[in-house]
Order: sequence, then structure tokens, then C-alpha cells
Amino acid sequence: MECGVGRLRPSRSELAKYWSLDPETIFLNHGSFGATPISVLEEQNQIRAEMEADPVRFVERKAFSLMVDASNNLSEFLNADPNGMTFCQNATSGVNTVLRSLVLNPGDEIIVPNHSYQACWNAVNFVASRWSAKVVIVELPFRCETEEEIIEPLLEAITPRTVLAMIDTVTSPTALRMPFERLVDEFQSRGVDVLLDAAHGPGLVSLDLSKLDAAWVTGNCHKWLCSPKGSAFLHIREDKKEVTNPLSISHGYNADLPTEEKFRFEFDWQGTRDPSAILSIPKSIEALKSMVTGGFDEIMQRNNSLALKARDVLCETLGTEPPTPNSMVSAMATIDLLGTYTGTADIMGDPLHNRLLDEWGIQVPVFPWPHHQMRYFRISTYLYNTIEEYEYLANVLKEIL
Ligand SMILES: Cc1ncc(COP(=O)(O)O)c(C=O)c1O
Repeated sequence: MECGVGRLRPSRSELAKYWSLDPETIFLNHGSFGATPISVLEEQNQIRAEMEADPVRFVERKAFSLMVDASNNLSEFLNADPNGMTFCQNATSGVNTVLRSLVLNPGDEIIVPNHSYQACWNAVNFVASRWSAKVVIVELPFRCETEEEIIEPLLEAITPRTVLAMIDTVTSPTALRMPFERLVDEFQSRGVDVLLDAAHGPGLVSLDLSKLDAAWVTGNCHKWLCSPKGSAFLHIREDKKEVTNPLSISHGYNADLPTEEKFRFEFDWQGTRDPSAILSIPKSIEALKSMVTGGFDEIMQRNNSLALKARDVLCETLGTEPPTPNSMVSAMATIDLLGTYTGTADIMGDPLHNRLLDEWGIQVPVFPWPHHQMRYFRISTYLYNTIEEYEYLANVLKEIL
């Protein structure tokens, strides 16, 4: 089909057949909510059907052992200690679980970079205000040439009162692949615990949780592992287990059990939540691996090289320079729309985002980032995408901007 910019509408890759994405949409936003392959949704449906055949029997006799399987499977994937692995609904609830467990003194300081996801940043503000603690916001540049430009300001913000730093694996608004391995090490060797926000973590960047040894790591499986929505984890390091409570205090709280069993009971028994998304995590890992020959290394490498190519195409067409070195790109890239910042977010969505979707069927986030006084758009790349889709976006943007 011919479009307004005189080009054929681009096709998805051969691997798109594994997803049920709307063929009318050019879907360039895997990063926001992920996208789950058909076979994984089928697995989830099967789990649900089994559950609904006799919900009580399922919960009493099956759910627990399936949960242990999912936990072991994910722990193996992330090289994590399965005894510290807990599940939660999403990364926001993982972050809240940690923050709302903290016991702070007035004047204690928590470090937050100004690229942090606003919901998690809000949770830090909320908790800090309750304890009269201080949130230390570290200004990091959007455009940078070296990792030092990110690492140095963060470490310089440490004071004797710093108790925690919330660090992303890959930032949401700016899509910056943070030097998180070095940051975890640098902060923790200075006595500052790190809460690693790996919402954009599993399946996007290599993660070795045992090697990282961060106090807490929370991450989404429903983004880059393509699990069903509502499948996330919080990994709690051994020495933090006693001081970390689940967000919902439930039956386990007054259980008279040995420490380890009590920890499991408190985190694993969360009442009548639907566990099917979490129980589908092993299937999503297996399904994705089976799409390529080289497993997740190949998936991450393919997505990363497409993101780099796509970013080059967009920057060249829009007449701007790539904002960061290639080493700071994962499978997302953010580009600035210079001179178009209007100050506030529109509750109905950014007009450019809406126009791209309504007139050209392109699904790509466009948003203001008040902390930089900038307006950005962010592309994501996944196995189902092709470079032609980003060329199409670039041509549309060139025509309308
Ligand atoms: C860096 C970061 N942290 C946390 C979140 C929250 O994830 P969720 O909405 O699944 O809780 C996101 C969501 O995109 C994110 O990008």
C-alpha cells in the first residue's frame, strides 16, 4: 500500500508470525508493555483452564510447586540465588516493596538519577517524606560520550548520610543503557545499598545477579522476556531478607516457622492473586529461545544491532547526532525533538504520538521529559521488527516535523 510519504508500508520480519500483533500497526514500542507470543498466551490459557476446573485443588496441590519451578527457572536464567527470588506484579511493586520496608532516620539520603522512571521516583519521594529523609536527585546529561559522565556525578552525590541509590539497568525516558555493573560495585563498596530497577532488564541486557550482588533487584518479565503482563520479580540478597517485607502483609506475617520457611510463606502466599502470568515465565523463555538458534545471546544481539541501525537512520534523516555511544544502547533508543518542548504532558497523549498512530498507524512513544526540559521519542526493537519500519517512521517524521 502507498502511504502519504510515497513509500510502501513496511513489513514485519518472518518471526512476527509468533505474535498476534495487529497487522495494521507498525509496532515500535515493545519497551512499554512488551508483547507476548501466541504460544505463551496459549500456555497461560491452559494454566487458567486447569485452575478454573477446580480452583481450590489447583491452589492447594499445584500452584506452589509450579511457582517453585518458575522461580528456579528464572533464577537459573538470571544466575540468581533461588532462595532470594520472589515474584511480584510489576517492577513498580518491586520497588515499592523495598522502599516501604526501609526504616530510615531523619536526614538519611536516597540517590535518584534524573532519568529514573517517574512512578518509582514518586515512590522514593513518598517514602522519604514519611521518614523526613532527603531525596538527592542527580542530574545526568541526555547526550554523553563516556560512561564516566554518568558514573562520576552519581558517586559525587554520596555523603555520610546516603543509605540507598536507585539505579536503572536501562532508563525509561532516555533509553540509556546504564553502566549498572560498575555502579552497583562502586556504590556498595562505599557502603551504599543499591536497589537495581531492572524493569528493562531480563532479556534486554545480560544479567548475572550473583555476580552483581546488589542488595535488591526488581525486574519485569513481561517486557523483554515477553511473559504475560503481571509477571515480575524482586530478588532479595540473603542479608536483606530479614528487613524486607512483602508489600501486602498477609498470612505469613504471624506464621510460627523457621526463618527461611517464613520468608517463603510471606512472599509466596499472597492470597487469591492469579498466578498464571508468573507460571508462564518458563514457557516464555523456552518459546523465545526456540525462535533463533543462538538463544538469548542472539536475541539480544539482533535487537541491539537493529536498534543501532534504526537510531542511525532516524538521526540522519532528522539531521541530529546519536546522543550516546553505541555501547549505551540496548534495544531501545531515545532521540530528542529539539525545540518542541511545551512544558506539560497532555493527558490525552502527546499530539505527535497520536498523529503518528492515527494517520500512519505507527505506535511509538513521544513524551515531554520536564527534568531535562526536553521532548523525546523512543524506539524499541524486537525480533518481529525490520529496519524498513524505522525508515518509514523517519520519512513520516521528516515530512511532518
Ligand atoms: C525503568 C523503569 N522502571 C520501572 C518501570 C515500571 O514497570 P511496571 O509498569 O511494569 O511496574 C518501568 C516501566 O516501563 C521502567 O521503564
